[in-house]
Amino acid sequence: MPKKRPEGKLYLVTGGAGFIGSCFVLDCLARKQAAVLNLDKLTYSGNLQNLAAVMDDPRHIFATGDIGDTALVDELLENYAPEAIINFAAESHVDRSIVDPTPFVDANVAGLCSFLGATLRWWRKLPAGQAATFRFLHISTDEVFGSLGPTDPAFTEKTPYAPNSPYSASKAASDHFVRAFHETYGLPTLITNCSNNYGPRQFPEKLIPLVLLNALSGRDIPIYGKGDNVRDWLHVEDHCAAINLTLERGTPGESYNIGGRSERRNLEVIEAICALLDKVRPDPQGHYARLIRHVQDRPGHDRRYAIDCGKIEHELGWKPAHDFTRGLAETVDWYLNNPDWLAAVQSGAYRNWVEKNYHNR
Ligand code: NAD
Ligand code: TYD
Repeated sequence: MPKKRPEGKLYLVTGGAGFIGSCFVLDCLARKQAAVLNLDKLTYSGNLQNLAAVMDDPRHIFATGDIGDTALVDELLENYAPEAIINFAAESHVDRSIVDPTPFVDANVAGLCSFLGATLRWWRKLPAGQAATFRFLHISTDEVFGSLGPTDPAFTEKTPYAPNSPYSASKAASDHFVRAFHETYGLPTLITNCSNNYGPRQFPEKLIPLVLLNALSGRDIPIYGKGDNVRDWLHVEDHCAAINLTLERGTPGESYNIGGRSERRNLEVIEAICALLDKVRPDPQGHYARLIRHVQDRPGHDRRYAIDCGKIEHELGWKPAHDFTRGLAETVDWYLNNPDWLAAVQSGAYRNWVEKNYHNR
């Protein structure tokens, strides 16, 4: 075991070296809310640089490993006895799931199911008071609800699941297992379904950092199909604030939708990034928008996602604090001010993915 359990509250965070998990960990430690045991497999998107600020903090314990490794999870639970588990760990990219769904089943379904099983066995041995206040919070996505037409009402917690990609199918399955562990065994679980996150430290396979990176390197900016697909954009810090409130005030067995109230067409987002770059990092060769190329559409591409977050607003008192226009400008600044981070994530593995997904598209 790497370090002793610190005094006070401790959360087991999985996937805490990824984009959203690292934001949660940094925020949790900065606010002295709880110590963190961070279990991450360090797949291609897990990045210890995201945690550089807390790697020497005695209140942050990092363990490399898989949520599906029952022996390891048993040992961690026994030794660290967390007050809550927040499960971010997952394979997270739709395009990769289209190329090969199997790792998504392994991590998001089979891995999660083993993890729930280990948690349940440990939780059943807790004294009644501790068992009652323990929470297992599972981070999911709005993609489980499928695709909306242009004027359809936004997804609510009651919208039937209709996943269209192997990624969203695996997340839907994971949500069902979490629900079943509550209904069948009484494990105090919570689920959050959020929209597209943006902000610092996002792996550049996702739209916003990919556009930035390609623009800065003078490469084509690939837009799938016509670019009129709509996503709702949620700042990662707003997402983490909502997760915290759900942990503190959410009702076990319930799910909560989290959205940014910022629906945008993809083309609008890309043009906004190009315009921001034109201002802050003008390219002598011309406007960045000259690099935009319409490429072959994503198969099964969901037309529109929109979130009705009325439940978390009314029941838990959360609201997104970030305005998308300002949040996007700050995000662009973060990437421009962190060239070492950007350079480091473009390893050989990243280049192989770009070649696989975009060559001949
Ligand atoms: P990410 O790909 O940046 O990070 C995932 C992290 O999980 C990585 O650090 C990786 O090493 C780790 N991981 C993967 N498989 C693991 C395993 N089997 N055991 C332990 N660790 C493992 O993803 P992200 O964007 O930070 O997403 C975090 C969670 O939020 C995921 O569950 C994702 O489905 C969900 N989500 C993301 C978004 C978004 O816009 N990024 C939107 C909705 C929901
Ligand atoms: P992405 O960031 O992969 O998130 P998700 O598929 O989970 O919504 O994609 C966001 C949107 O951007 C989605 O409609 C697909 C589109 N997109 C492109 O047009 N070009 C790209 O190169 C990528 C990665 C995404």
